[in-house]
Amino acid sequence: MSNYDINGRLYSAEPKPGQCLRTFLRDLEVFGVKKGCDAGDCGACTVWLDGKPFHSCLVPAFRGEGRKITTVEGLSKNGELHPIQKAFHDAQAFQCGYCAAGMMMTTASESFDDHRKDDLPHALKGNICRCTGYRSIVDALHGKTNIEEDVAGNALGASIPNPHTDAILTGQARYTMDIAMPNMLHLKVLRSPHAHARLKSIDKSKALAIPGVVAVYSWEDVPRRLYSTALHEDHLVDPDDTYMLDNVARFVGQRLVAVVAETEAAAEAGVRAVQIDYEILPAVFDPVAAMEPGAPLLHDKDVVTQSGNLFCTLQGEIGDVARGFKDADAVHEHTYSTSRVQHVHLETHGSIAYKGEDNRWHVRTSSQGPFAVLKKLAYLTGVPAREIHVFTERVGGGFGGKQEMVSEDLPLFATMKLGGRPVKWEWTREEEFIGATTRHQMTTRVKLGARKDGTLTAMEVHVVSNTGAYGNHGSETLAAAMASPIAAYRCDNKKGIGRVVYTNMTPGGGFRGYGASQTTFAIECAMDDLARLLELDPVELRRKNVVRPGDNVESIWQEPGDASFGSHGIDECLDIVERELKKGNGVAKPAGEDWLEGSGSALAMLECGPPTEHRSSAEIKLLPDGTYHLACGTSEFGNGISTAIKQIAASILGVRSSDVSLTNADTDRSPYDTGTFASTGTVVAGKATHITAEAMRDDILDFAARHTGIDRDQCRLDNDAVICGDRRILLKELHHAGAKVNHRFTVGRRAYLSPRSIAFNVQGVRLAVHKVTGEIRILHSVHAADIGRPINPMQCRGQLDGAVSMGYGWALIENMVHDEGGHMVNAQLRNCRVPAFADTPHTDIFFANTVDTIGPLGAKSQGECAINPVAPAVSNALANATGVRYAHLPFTPDRLFAALAARK
Ligand code: FES
Ligand code: FES
Repeated sequence: MSNYDINGRLYSAEPKPGQCLRTFLRDLEVFGVKKGCDAGDCGACTVWLDGKPFHSCLVPAFRGEGRKITTVEGLSKNGELHPIQKAFHDAQAFQCGYCAAGMMMTTASESFDDHRKDDLPHALKGNICRCTGYRSIVDALHGKTNIEEDVAGNALGASIPNPHTDAILTGQARYTMDIAMPNMLHLKVLRSPHAHARLKSIDKSKALAIPGVVAVYSWEDVPRRLYSTALHEDHLVDPDDTYMLDNVARFVGQRLVAVVAETEAAAEAGVRAVQIDYEILPAVFDPVAAMEPGAPLLHDKDVVTQSGNLFCTLQGEIGDVARGFKDADAVHEHTYSTSRVQHVHLETHGSIAYKGEDNRWHVRTSSQGPFAVLKKLAYLTGVPAREIHVFTERVGGGFGGKQEMVSEDLPLFATMKLGGRPVKWEWTREEEFIGATTRHQMTTRVKLGARKDGTLTAMEVHVVSNTGAYGNHGSETLAAAMASPIAAYRCDNKKGIGRVVYTNMTPGGGFRGYGASQTTFAIECAMDDLARLLELDPVELRRKNVVRPGDNVESIWQEPGDASFGSHGIDECLDIVERELKKGNGVAKPAGEDWLEGSGSALAMLECGPPTEHRSSAEIKLLPDGTYHLACGTSEFGNGISTAIKQIAASILGVRSSDVSLTNADTDRSPYDTGTFASTGTVVAGKATHITAEAMRDDILDFAARHTGIDRDQCRLDNDAVICGDRRILLKELHHAGAKVNHRFTVGRRAYLSPRSIAFNVQGVRLAVHKVTGEIRILHSVHAADIGRPINPMQCRGQLDGAVSMGYGWALIENMVHDEGGHMVNAQLRNCRVPAFADTPHTDIFFANTVDTIGPLGAKSQGECAINPVAPAVSNALANATGVRYAHLPFTPDRLFAALAARK
C-alpha cells in the first residue's frame, strides 16, 4: 500500500493501474473533486499538489504519492472558511455550485497572484462555469459583496444567500454521484456507431466472460413498451416512440446494450466485448429531404406519425394574411436558421438505483422532474408507483437537459434483476454530446408586411424543426416556437405552419428558451430587416407594434388562450436598452479600418409557463421549536428555486428565510410537482408556497384566537411569536398548546398555472467585427428584463447573466459538427466549446420596475427568456456594422468572412 496525504490526513491505498487522481480521490470518498469532462477541459476536478493547482483528471494517481494533496475539503481551517471561500460566499459566486470547488482551487492557490487576477481571461481559461456568466465569480475575486442580511419580515426582495452555500463551498454538498454504497454495481452502455441500422444478432458471450461483468442486457431482455423520454405533466403531448433498448438504431449514439459489472472498468471492457451484427439501413439527416417521398423511414407502424417521417404539423391563421400583405407598403421575406447545441450542464446525467431496507426501489437521480420520472418508471417496469421512490440530492445544472428520463430506467431495471444491489450509471461528457438531447435545429421562413409608418399588416411564419430520431419535446417546442415570438406583436393577420420531422440525428429536447429561442431569432432579425426596408428605426418599429394590455395576446390560433398581462414592462425595457447603448460605456472599437462597428437590439416575450397543465403543491408545518418546515416538489438545479420559495414563505410568515427549512424534489418526502422547467419554478411552485404560507398564517392566527379567547382581528404574527391583544405568545408555546388538543399546524395547498402572465426581455449589443478575419468583439452588452418583482435580486441577476452568456455561446461559439454519416466529430468540450471566461462579455443587467398581479408576490418567470433576444441582437448589430444579414447560427469567423467576401 502507498501513502497519500490528502487534506492533511494519511490514506493507505493503491490506485488501480492507469487510474487518474480524480477517480482515485473519489474512490476514497473525497467527493469535493468533481467531473465535468475527464479530459482537462472544464476544471471541475482541480486540486492542489504541493499547493499548485492541477486538473486531477489529467494526473496519474500514483503521482500524488509523497505529495501534499489538497482538495476543496481542505481549504477551510478550524471551521473557518478560507478567504476565497468567504469571497465566493459573499459574492454568491455560483448557482448550481458544481464548478465552484474547481474555481476556488484555481483561484485560492498561491500562483493565482495579483498579476493573474488582472488577467482573468487567461487565468481562468481552465475553469468553465455554465451557470453564472462569470460575473459573480469576478465579483468574488474583486471582493464584492452581493448578499444581504436575512432579517425577519424582510425576506421579499432581499438578496439572501443560497441556504446550501457553506456546504457547496466546503465540498460537503452531495451531488447525485457523491455517495459510496456497499456492493455498488456499475452500468455502461454500448451506443450505436451507425445512424440507422437493424441489430441482426447480438453476441454477449465475450462480454459475460470478462471478470466482474454480471449482466448484459439488450432489447430482448427489457420490457418492450413504447414511451417518450420527455417529462411533461401530460404524457400524451409527446409521442410514444422509444424503447428502453431497441433492435433498431436510429442515430449515432443511441444506447443499444447495457453492461453491468463490479467495476466501471469491467463494465467498459464488457461494452467493448459485445459483438453486434448490424444490417446498415439508409439514413436521412436533413428534415426537408426526410419529408420527400421515398426517404428512408425512421419508424415503422408501431409509432404514429402524421405521414412518413413527418411527426406533426401545427398551423393556424387569424385574420386574412393574403389581404394583409396586399395592404402592406413593404414586404420582407427571408429564411433564418438556428443550430443544434447541447446544454452542457457541468454535472453529466447519472442515476443510482437500489432496493432499500423498506423493500422499495429507490432512484437517486439528476433530474428536473422526479415525479414525472416516477410515473414513467412505474409504467416501464410495471411496478406500482408506490413501490418506487425517486429523489434528487444537489443537481449540477439542467437547462432543460434534465427534463428527460434518460439515465434512470436502466439502473432501476438492473437492480430489480440483480437482487436490489445498487446500480450506478454516470454518463461521460462524450455521451452527453452524442446520447443526450440537444436544442432542436429549426429553419424558419418569415414574411412580414407593414405600412410606411411601420404598422404591421401581416405576419407569416413557416418552421421546419428537426427533432432527430425521437419526438420527445418535438411538438411542444414547435408549439412554443409558434406562440410567444409571434404573439409578441399586434397584427390583425397572422399565419403559421410548423412541421416537426424525424431524421437520423441526435434527438432534440427541451433547452432553455424551448423552441421560442429559434423563432425569436428569425422574427427579431426579420423585424430589423423590415425596419431597414421602411427606413425606420428598428426600436421604434418594435415599440409601435409590440403587444400591449388590452390587446388580444394571440399568435396564429383563433382559440382564446390564458396568457394575460399581470404587468407590462416592455416599454421600459426598450427605453433602458436604447438609453444605455446611446450613452455608451466608453469601450471603443479596436483601431484600424478593418474593424467595423455596429449596434443592434432584439426583444423576446415569454408566456410564463407552458400552455399545458402544470401544477405544484406545498406543505408547511410549524415545528415544535417555533420554526417552519416547507416541503415542495420543485427541483433545485442551480435555478435558485429553493432560496426563492423559502423567501416567499418567510415573507408571508414574517420570519427569517433561515427559519424555514426545506425538503424538495423527493417523491416520498415532498408533495407533487410536475417538474421544474418551462419557467415554472417561481410562478407555480412559488405560487403553491405563497398560498400555503397564507393558509399557515391563517391557521396559526385562528388557533391563537381560540386559545387566548381574543378576537382574531386582534391577532398577528410577529417573527417567532403571535401577538393577540397585549399578549405575546411564542410560536413554540403555541405549538405545545396545539399538541395538547391534537392541532397539528400542518397545511398544504396546490397551485395550477393559469392564467399565465407575460414577461419580456430586451438585449442590446454594440460590437466590432474584423472584416478580414471575421473576429467579433462585444464592446457593450445591455440587458433589460421585465420579470415583475424580483424575489431575490441577486439570484435573478445571476439567472439573467447565465442566460445571456448562453445566448452569446449559441450566437458565436457553440457548434455541434456532424459528418455525412451522422457522427459528431467534435464531441469534446475543447472542440465543441461553450463560453469560457474570455468568451463572455460583461452584461449590464437592468430590471423594469413592474409588480405583477398574477405571479406570487408580484414575480414573473425569469430563468429562460433572457437567452432568446441575444442571438438576434448580435445578428442585428452585425448587419448594422457590415450591411450583411447573418441569418444562420452560429456566427463563426469563417462564416462571417465568407459572407463578407461574397458581398464584395
Ligand atoms: S473533469 Fe478534469 S478538467 Fe474536466
Ligand atoms: S455554478 Fe458554475 S457550473 Fe453551475
